[in-house]
Amino acid sequence: MQRNNVIFASLALAAMLGAATTVQAADTKEHAENLDMKGLKVNVANGEKIFKQGKGDVPACNSCHGPDGMGDDNLGTPRLAGQGMVYIIKELEDFAHDRRTDYTMSVMNFNAKGLTPEDRADVAAYVSQKLHIKRDKLSNLKAVKDLGQKVGSTYLGKSIVLYGIPEKNVPACQSCHQYNGMGVFPIYPQIGDQKFVYLTNQLKHWRDGSRANDILAQMRHVADKLSDDDIANVVSYLVSVKFTSPGNTFVVEQHRPMAFDVH
Ligand code: HEC
Ligand code: HEC
Repeated sequence: MQRNNVIFASLALAAMLGAATTVQAADTKEHAENLDMKGLKVNVANGEKIFKQGKGDVPACNSCHGPDGMGDDNLGTPRLAGQGMVYIIKELEDFAHDRRTDYTMSVMNFNAKGLTPEDRADVAAYVSQKLHIKRDKLSNLKAVKDLGQKVGSTYLGKSIVLYGIPEKNVPACQSCHQYNGMGVFPIYPQIGDQKFVYLTNQLKHWRDGSRANDILAQMRHVADKLSDDDIANVVSYLVSVKFTSPGNTFVVEQHRPMAFDVH
């Protein structure tokens, strides 16, 4: 199969996975293993080059997302390091086809359009596989407060992540995003250890419907019940979490449909 076709077939499958609203991690993983990504060839070296040097009119990704892809609260950019590869491809496709708009710097639609589908997969593979979370680069609550952000209470945020807000029918974030928001790839992105300003902006965009690229409106249904305080609380907790639970250092294995051929 042509490489493009493989990418799009995988995305179509990913969309169907989203439609299966069984959000148990085990189920999602099982489905994910049926994804035939074996024909997907990515060129990680090309992805690294784009990340560090840009391509044509598209500036280097690291100029905004940071040298190690950890994102930047001053700019409102997300962490890309370690995020699920298929999720990143989906977002770049959504920007490229105007299914999602960058309201923060109005640059990502242009950037995604300036890359070919192969480039988008290559750079997604690079940031997903070669860059990893650096804990000393996570958001600092004091620093974001100084930026004028509304910082909330981490213990109230933790309870939203683990249990939701039953009286408002808000589901637990972990019912889709896994323990402490570590993500269930390929559908559910990692929201734990994501940047403060970026998380806050996205939750507000889901809430007012200006971001509407979520399959089955899953996130819009969650966010439309969140108050500004709920958002401040949940984000203050999510920005610095561990993906292991107390007394258990086992990290759930993520399905990373990698096994890619580097050429
Ligand atoms: C000029 C600054 C800038 C550059 C250069 C840039 N980005 Fe971004 N990027 C942003 C901003 C700002 C956002 C947040 C958009 C929003 O708030 O919706 C973003 C969001 C993203 C997202 C969405 C992440 C998510 O979790 O959904 C991806 C993926 C992404 N960028 C990839 C890239 C790649 C790959 C490159 C290089 C080809 C790149 N960006 C270059 C500013 C930039
Ligand atoms: C019913 C499943 C479901 C639940 C519950 C859920 N989410 Fe999500 N969330 C999703 C999906 C699916 C996406 C990916 C949307 C896309 O394809 O762009 C997502 C994306 C996000 C994003 C954007 C990530 C990024 O990198 O741009 C944030 C932030 C987020 N969710 C926060 C939360 C929070 C906080 C909670 C709990 C209050 C929560 N979610 C509960 C399904 C869910």
